[in-house]
Amino acid sequence: MVRVQVPATTANLGPGFDCLGLALKLYNTVEMVRLHAGLSIEVHGEGAQEIARDQTNVVYRAAMRLFNQVGFAPGGLRIRLINNIPVARGLGSSASAITGGLIAANIIAGGRLTQKELLTLAAAIEGHPDNVAPALFGGIVVTSAVEGEVRYARIDPPSGLKAAVAIPEFKLSTRMAREVLPQQVSMQDAVFNLGRVALLVTALCRGDLGLLTGVMEDRLHQPYRASLVPGMKKVLAAARLAGARGVCLSGAGPTLIAFADTNLELIARAMKDTFTQNGVPARAMVLEPSP
Ligand code: HSE
Repeated sequence: MVRVQVPATTANLGPGFDCLGLALKLYNTVEMVRLHAGLSIEVHGEGAQEIARDQTNVVYRAAMRLFNQVGFAPGGLRIRLINNIPVARGLGSSASAITGGLIAANIIAGGRLTQKELLTLAAAIEGHPDNVAPALFGGIVVTSAVEGEVRYARIDPPSGLKAAVAIPEFKLSTRMAREVLPQQVSMQDAVFNLGRVALLVTALCRGDLGLLTGVMEDRLHQPYRASLVPGMKKVLAAARLAGARGVCLSGAGPTLIAFADTNLELIARAMKDTFTQNGVPARAMVLEPSP
């Protein structure tokens, strides 16, 4: 039996739309066994009531994409999923399913794909690389499509950096959150993000948490998505007031995330309470980066 643990991820990190992501210490487990024939899927934990147990299951489909690509016929499969990552909340649940399926299938097929090939395949299935890259490699990963391939650079998370996440009790599909984005943005907004993402990556590389303050603002996706997350601006403001160094929408939302090195419990509580005051039931937790 193959067992793979895949971390939750938070994509974008504010100004790094579609190119920055961080792995978090919250994991889904994929167990995969090769059978002579047939398919059996068990799901436990987050999403157990709703996740497909047939050939439309995302873990199964990712595994079959890999088997087809490398020309391996597994016969049948038994898949057991033990999930801790909330579904469709902006914490990389679909990236973890895709990545878990690919890694497990690659081991069963004899490790025919390299890490880079796994990333390329995962990004093709997901549609963008910023969740699947940290799900595969851990830590913080910068990605970009360069000359037809996904280039990536991994950064060790700065020591002391932690995240407070406030997870609303409603789902938001990435497809819907991408539909509200404009086809074009202004030069001013592009430059606003460029400077901040450059400073943010520099801060993360240097482990300089002081430099994080203010550089997680964004003008490329968050302003358009704010209407999909009631209370978003107030929750982010409450997190800042409680001492967060940087705050943003996690991935495509609706989870909001705040980064700090102290007072994390206080920040998490302030975010949850502000969501509640705005009529949005939410849970909050403190998570460390996953190396
Ligand atoms: N970069 C993606 C987005 C992450 O913001 O749409 C969501 O999966």
